[in-house]
Amino acid sequence: MMRAAILTLHASRAVIQVKLNLSAPRDTLRKVSTQSQFPPKSLLPSAALRSLFPAIVVARERRIPGDAADLLPSEAIFVRNATPKRVNEFAAGRACARSALAELGVHDVALHPAGDRQPVWPVGFIGSITHTTGLCAAVVAARRSILAIGLDSEIIGAPTPDIWSTICRDEELGWVGLLPADERPAAVTLLFSAKEAFYKCQYPLVGEWLDFHDLSIAVKDWGRTTGTFAASATRKIRFTQHADLPIAGRYVFHEPFVSAGVSVPAAAAFPQ
Ligand SMILES: CC(C)(COP(=O)(O)OP(=O)(O)OC[C@H]1O[C@@H](n2cnc3c(N)ncnc32)[C@H](O)[C@@H]1OP(=O)(O)O)[C@@H](O)C(=O)NCCC(=O)NCCS
Repeated sequence: MMRAAILTLHASRAVIQVKLNLSAPRDTLRKVSTQSQFPPKSLLPSAALRSLFPAIVVARERRIPGDAADLLPSEAIFVRNATPKRVNEFAAGRACARSALAELGVHDVALHPAGDRQPVWPVGFIGSITHTTGLCAAVVAARRSILAIGLDSEIIGAPTPDIWSTICRDEELGWVGLLPADERPAAVTLLFSAKEAFYKCQYPLVGEWLDFHDLSIAVKDWGRTTGTFAASATRKIRFTQHADLPIAGRYVFHEPFVSAGVSVPAAAAFPQ
């Protein structure tokens, strides 16, 4: 079933609306019973996403649409005027995050968004949420182990060629141009996801808005399902008060998605 979706890319304070044609696999949308299991089958431990982070990070993913009934009343207030699609993705993210937190011993906690939309995690914990068509996921860790964490998942090929230059710097486009033509959409999607993951990792630490061209991503291990990338900044950014750049991130292709993760182990962080 073909469906249209709108991906909103924020760049240089402009918002670019990108029309995507997505094919949502039927089995990712099938409702699964959630009775009497922990975690419920709809909230699976995610091996693919777990592989992006140190072992102490807990990951949960959901392949079916979110359910507004999963929201706690104080969370529902934040999406009371939102579209059903937005309510569902917000609820799916909260359900994934709550399930991951439960594994760390934190139960039934409300996850409110701050005014800038970042989730407010329980004291002593840190996490990151992502959603795209057919997938929602959250990763969570204890703050004593992980100082900062960012997760992003995208559908491969979602960024269309007309916005590649918005996402990629010249050196990144140079690398993409050396690849076989049929690999380029996946490569640009990886660059996009890596930048979004880095952004989500750094923002809660320093509150700094970054443009796509403020970051430069060097992909290692291209051609493999999983690999690493090095993220560096092309201007002075506040994140370097907490960790050195370039910082290594990890990626995984798990059809039809590519996901990227960036984290800063607490031990590697500079004194607060
Ligand atoms: C934060 C942002 C990167 C998320 O992008 P998105 O297209 O909505 O992608 P995802 O679905 O993967 O992630 C959304 C989740 O990220 C989390 N999030 C939102 N703002 C965040 C922030 N400032 N810091 C950390 N996490 C944030 C939220 O949990 C959100 O889900 P929710 O609203 O349901 O809770 C994007 O909205 C944004 O603010 N971009 C501006 C900066 C940018 O993109 N620069 C280019 C890259 S350097």
